[in-house]
Amino acid sequence: MDRGDLLTFPPGFQWGVASSSYQIEGAVDEGGRGPSIWDTFCHTPGKIARGETGDIAADHYHRWEEDVRLLGELGVQVYRFSVAWPRVQPTGRGKVNGQGLDFYERLVDALIARNITPCLTLYHWDLPQPLQDAGGWPNRDTARYFADYAAIVAGRLGDRVTGWITHNEPWVAAFAGNFSGEHAPGIQDPVAAFQAAHHLLLSHGLAVEALRATCRRKPSIGLALNLNPVHPATDSQADLEAATRFDGVLNRWFLDPLYRGSYPEDMVRLFEPVLTPVREGDLKTISTPVEWLGINYYSHTVARHDPSFPLIEASQVQPTGREYSQMWEIYPEGMHEILTRVWNEYHPPYLVVTENGIPVADEPDLDGKARDPRRIAYLRDHIAQVHRAIADGVDVRGYYHWSPTDNFEWAHGYGKRFGLIYIDFSTQKRTVKDSGWWFKQVIEANGVEL
Ligand code: FCB
Repeated sequence: MDRGDLLTFPPGFQWGVASSSYQIEGAVDEGGRGPSIWDTFCHTPGKIARGETGDIAADHYHRWEEDVRLLGELGVQVYRFSVAWPRVQPTGRGKVNGQGLDFYERLVDALIARNITPCLTLYHWDLPQPLQDAGGWPNRDTARYFADYAAIVAGRLGDRVTGWITHNEPWVAAFAGNFSGEHAPGIQDPVAAFQAAHHLLLSHGLAVEALRATCRRKPSIGLALNLNPVHPATDSQADLEAATRFDGVLNRWFLDPLYRGSYPEDMVRLFEPVLTPVREGDLKTISTPVEWLGINYYSHTVARHDPSFPLIEASQVQPTGREYSQMWEIYPEGMHEILTRVWNEYHPPYLVVTENGIPVADEPDLDGKARDPRRIAYLRDHIAQVHRAIADGVDVRGYYHWSPTDNFEWAHGYGKRFGLIYIDFSTQKRTVKDSGWWFKQVIEANGVEL
């Protein structure tokens, strides 16, 4: 419902923020944590901008109380965070590290004490290194170990956490990690990438079973996919078909098995040379119905026919005359497009925007204030598109901003700032940006002013 220029959201709509363990925690060898593939990758020369690492990151492992207090000050209703698997199981299987579970238990209790609902992501890319040494996600056993790990976390926290996300962006974990090699573990092998994608999905289904069997309070389970509408660079037939293929690998390769119990046929034909056979029963496990779907939306993809690109013969272009951030084109309408498309074509029970945000080169001014009008404009325009989707009948129940604080942005290191809260990484001082105070007002009004 709209009052004047205020777009009001349905009662009970949940406003949140999202983070991930490796990007904020630091303390990589404290509290019994074992190494993850991101530790190894960051310490490999040439992989991360300026040779940066997540060794200290936002020092959240030591400053979590301050961070929770700030979330409370901003009025945040949901905090989506991830558990670092190597804190809970330093070698990825077998032995449990109680100190790791203690850390997340304290965090969860502090959130609940402030009336902030925890939403726990089990995997945001920090695979224990010993599991990588045994083959990583291309090894089917990793899926089983993931389900064991899920049960361990659920055994400790499933009496108070009800919001669960199995995986964050399996497309990125599989393909940036094992096809382009831009992310850990830095492998460039199409066969391995498709195996990884399949086992990530399989492990989602296995973890759903483990969570349901273990949680003492009924879990509400989702997973967070990075989905982009894909548009052709021109209206030529070749570009149209290239866009369909790009959409096939980015969106349908994950949505179809989850919601239809099959991989998309056109893509299966295309990828045939690099696919390993799927075992009987896998797709049934993968498509086990879950309570909700999370969508991470940042931009759309403009694709053109490009025979030089292996398998899909399509590549991304950055059209001129559009508005860009440091990382992507700014395309708010894509939020509405992806929400309505997924809703109409795949019929998930309901949707949550589990990530949305923009990198801006923020810097506090002389008076110490961090003014970031560009982020505010971006958020306003994207939240308005969520509102538009709801008005069109799509059941969207939450919007989580990426991210509460500036943090370690993977291969970009600390050069990309996504926070509502500025961090001076030399002192770890936190300063709420203008966008943080603005988001607080959005939450209080349960709506956004145009
Ligand atoms: C997403 C990731 C998240 C963060 C944002 C900017 O792809 O899930 O960790 O890096 O992008």
